Amino acid sequence: MKLKHSLFTRRQFLNGLIGGWVGAFLASLVYPVVKFIFPPYKEPDEVILPLSDFQDMPPNSVKNFAWGSKLGLVKKNDDGTHFAFVGVCTHLDCNVAYMDDQRKFFCACHDGWYDENGINIGGPPPTPLRRLTLVITEEEMIVKKESPEETS
Ligand code: FES
Repeated sequence: MKLKHSLFTRRQFLNGLIGGWVGAFLASLVYPVVKFIFPPYKEPDEVILPLSDFQDMPPNSVKNFAWGSKLGLVKKNDDGTHFAFVGVCTHLDCNVAYMDDQRKFFCACHDGWYDENGINIGGPPPTPLRRLTLVITEEEMIVKKESPEETS
């Protein structure tokens, strides 16, 4: 069956096609920006790690673990105690690294420095590294969010 009249003109068809392309192009630009501004990150309440992975750490050393999708750091102190941090710079969220020879954490993004306890001492980081609570049992190292009353 052949239609006598088209349902829309050639101009309407081309306008709709171009409008669809422009809309898809703009959506492809806006979507990553929105994802960057509002990342779908859900921080874990706790992470359970096998203690055996951390028993052979020498004093003044750091080992990484996954704190959700972020870097977590366990530091063994000279007295045998451990600290845990979120290993993300408090300036603009770059990962930090521990420089054991200088006993400092370093953020290479903008030359940010923290002392061995995670206190910001140089560069742009506005606050100390975020501490996490560590509970060590016979076989596990349980890393938890630091509760607000513990941070004071
Ligand atoms: S992100 Fe670490 S100093 Fe800027």
